Amino acid sequence: ARADLKGVLLEINKAAAQYFYVQLKSEHGAQALDYLKRRELDDETIKGFGLGYSNKYSDDLYRYLKSKGYADEMIAKAGLITVDEKKGVYDKFWNRVMFPIMDANNRVIGFGGRVMGDAKPKYLNSPETVIFDKSRNLYGLNRARSSRRPYFLLCEGYMDVISLHQAGFTNAVASLGTALTPGHASLIKRYVQEVYLTYDSDEAGTKAALRAVPILKNVGISARVIRMDPYKDPDEFIKNLGAEAFEERIQKARNGFMFSLEILERSYDMHSPEGKTGFMREAARRLTEFEEEIERNNYIEAVASSYHVGYEDLRKLVTKMAIQQG
Ligand code: CTP
Ligand code: MN
Ligand code: MN
Ligand code: MN
Ligand code: MN
Repeated sequence: ARADLKGVLLEINKAAAQYFYVQLKSEHGAQALDYLKRRELDDETIKGFGLGYSNKYSDDLYRYLKSKGYADEMIAKAGLITVDEKKGVYDKFWNRVMFPIMDANNRVIGFGGRVMGDAKPKYLNSPETVIFDKSRNLYGLNRARSSRRPYFLLCEGYMDVISLHQAGFTNAVASLGTALTPGHASLIKRYVQEVYLTYDSDEAGTKAALRAVPILKNVGISARVIRMDPYKDPDEFIKNLGAEAFEERIQKARNGFMFSLEILERSYDMHSPEGKTGFMREAARRLTEFEEEIERNNYIEAVASSYHVGYEDLRKLVTKMAIQQG
């Protein structure tokens, strides 16, 4: 009865999402609705993404789901309640703005919940369940899959996806608070051959982008990187500079490999001969990873021209290193 279990969990999640939405629109949800308005989301966006509110009573959703006839065991398996021997049963999400997470077929598989203030954790997410595998689902994919653009904008967070969609960039998706996995990459590959990474501009976002590039390349997806500076993330960028400026950043996106070299530059003194030589050696080592000759030569050409070294010199160094590596 495993397939049946999944069906019941999907039903419970759907009922929970509807409940959270109704709460948001009720008097209980006034503060949450105000929060979303302050974040400049309009009614259509709130409805489209099915945003909701989990209210302040600690077993509200639990009682609602019980009244619909669902068993404690199933509600617990959906990850919506915590069963504590001493304290009893209570809702997992409490006084948070709720983001239902849907799979590519619009089925609610989990939730993210955000506090409205500065409490920690900022986001609380459903645990992985038999229907919710974070490493194989992307937030926003249910909508992005029908975008006409031939690439996805891959960002970090719920609010980034929602802001981008509201601004007309309906090809935005996010991995669910986890690093990009090969599972995500294969999932993306079903829809597009190209990804524009739109991670946060902080250190963590830069590192995440660097790690994502080879994971995407492994499944044959080419990656470009969009910089969000001086803003923190796409949500803030769009709010401050608008859609047109974002479109310009898309046009200026850098190739993933060239972006990784720009970050590498930070570890060398590029103004000294030793520093620049060390940098070029590491760049050459990385160039050996392009196995196809035409592709490798194209990158050698791009690197030689960007860093003002001779194409032939660099090509020889790459060939030497490739031979050394066997
Ligand atoms: N995240 C999470 N748990 C946290 C913090 C973050 O699951 N405690 C995930 C969420 O999916 C979040 C994403 O990581 O959307 C990016 O985190 P962050 O950049 O910190 O948050 P923002 O998306 O920018 O959130 P906001 O704009 O609402 O502050
Ligand atoms: Mn997993
Ligand atoms: Mn971040
Ligand atoms: Mn943000
Ligand atoms: Mn962010």
